[in-house]
Amino acid sequence: MRKDLIAGNWKMNATHLDAIQMVQKLSYRLNDSDFDRVEVVVCPPYTALRSAQTVIETDHLRIKLGAQNCHYADSGAFTGAISPGMLAKLSVRYVIVGHSERRHVFGETDADINRKVKAVYEAGMIPIFAVGELEAERDAGRTEERVRSQFAAGTSGLTQEQVNSLVVAYEPVWAIGTGNTATPDDAGAVCTFIRELAADSYGDAADHMRILYGGSVNPGNVAAIMAKADIDGALVGGASLDPDTFASVVRYWV
Ligand code: 13P
Repeated sequence: MRKDLIAGNWKMNATHLDAIQMVQKLSYRLNDSDFDRVEVVVCPPYTALRSAQTVIETDHLRIKLGAQNCHYADSGAFTGAISPGMLAKLSVRYVIVGHSERRHVFGETDADINRKVKAVYEAGMIPIFAVGELEAERDAGRTEERVRSQFAAGTSGLTQEQVNSLVVAYEPVWAIGTGNTATPDDAGAVCTFIRELAADSYGDAADHMRILYGGSVNPGNVAAIMAKADIDGALVGGASLDPDTFASVVRYWV
């Protein structure tokens, strides 16, 4: 049985002071039964992780902490980078790897992303591994081809046990921050395709692996997306910045 997972990717928003308020407000709006049903993750910028961790631990909150990126090395001469081990020490549980903004704005390659996925596991955390096609690729009917190659490259060398806990986020690039959500049918079909890809390479682990949809998710469209059999959650950008709105996304069945 896969537990739903809804993660807020704050991107480059929120100071550490904002983060304290955002986590507290979110926690006020959620109750224990919500957390029994959904794993709730927030992914603040690096500079706010320590503050968010402190609030979560001091107030015994069930919100979990994610990071938006990491380097693949443990330590070394990588100015400006943050290692998986540094994140794990802050009680970070999930790390987004391969987000389209990392791929397209910062030029990360499939090979970089595969190294990061493995490094996140080695540090005892779980990757939220993002894949998704560009608008031109979708228009050319190449969505499956693109997702297949990203999935194969990103997960190369993983064990079945690792894939059991893997979280894949299907985020069509044309749907991110645009208000253009994929239709639930289209999103559901690609997520089913991703699970089939995982089954081909990792057998039964594919049934345990969780698949999120991301791209303009909001309180108005989340229920229809979550109704799809192979969608186990959402990776939410803009709608995660306001705690009221994000709480409504988390409580998608209400
Ligand atoms: P939006 O929800 O703002 O479209 O962002 C999606 C996203 O990129 C989450 O990682």
